[in-house]
Amino acid sequence: MNEHRWWYPVAAAAELGASPLPVALFGEALVLWRDETGAPHAFTDRCPHRGTRLSLGTVRVVGGAAQLECRYHGWRFDGGGRCAGIPALPEFRPADSHAVRSHPLREAHGLLWTTFGPGADAAAALPDPGPVPGRAVVCGPYDVATSAPRVVENFLDTSHFAFVHEGGLGDRGHTGVPPYDVVIDAAGAPGVPHYRAWQPRASAQAAGGTWVDYRYQLLSPCSALLLKQASGVDAAPQEAYVLWVAPLEPEHSRVWFTLFTSDTATPDATLRAFQHAVFIQDQPVLESQQPRRLPLSGGEAHSAADRLSAAYRRYLQEQGITYGVC
Ligand code: FES
Ligand SMILES: [Fe+2]
Repeated sequence: MNEHRWWYPVAAAAELGASPLPVALFGEALVLWRDETGAPHAFTDRCPHRGTRLSLGTVRVVGGAAQLECRYHGWRFDGGGRCAGIPALPEFRPADSHAVRSHPLREAHGLLWTTFGPGADAAAALPDPGPVPGRAVVCGPYDVATSAPRVVENFLDTSHFAFVHEGGLGDRGHTGVPPYDVVIDAAGAPGVPHYRAWQPRASAQAAGGTWVDYRYQLLSPCSALLLKQASGVDAAPQEAYVLWVAPLEPEHSRVWFTLFTSDTATPDATLRAFQHAVFIQDQPVLESQQPRRLPLSGGEAHSAADRLSAAYRRYLQEQGITYGVC
């Protein structure tokens, strides 16, 4: 599948402690675990011996090196997935055919990322938000009963603010969407360099309504950046929100947001509470949309206010995305 070329988040880095963690991507069960140095690893969550979930197992340190031990017969796997020991045959040296499939795993933006794509191609495609403020606060995960492209399109959509987020990101006195330009970057991904919106409460710190300058940029088929700057407000922090979506199944997604902010004073919990309040307004609307897969070949009516959504759908088509669309 073309979508396998990109990297996707599978867990927040803070979620993975000493115990193996079951996660999923594109319908495949994965297990994450950390070795004795703290380095994270991702395997297919299925023991090659009898198909048991390796996420039921335990991380053990043997001879100074951590291995993932299967719960059923105790086969142990090293960080690369090689079978390092079969307790029923202590003298036996396991072969390559006893290995579990290992996937590349990276830590970035407070999340753990994997890819099913070929290494070199995928290496270029870890989504990069570019220059953003230094403090990062991860919000989520949210498990949402819809396709990943529906979640991304909602993040790019401004004309719902006055209705879904009335009194917060939008208000009924300002429903109009001003004309805006969609610019396509070198990777073919659409963005909007300038968008001006009136917001009654634009951020966790906002005391009153203000005009806010937005910049949108799609980073990959399942991630997007929103840079926000309140105008005319002294010392308003610069903020970037990045949406990251993992397609668990064609119609089920796991969602995180990373807030990058120049604000060093507001506690993490306050910043997360604001983002949480916004997203739980979106969630029931998202889960009500039919079909759950994003229609790329017609069947929905558009207005000129939906230019960015239309550009996103074209981008998915051009990239050959087939998962979570119809
Ligand atoms: S099923 Fe995993 S060791 Fe037997
Ligand atoms: Fe929304």
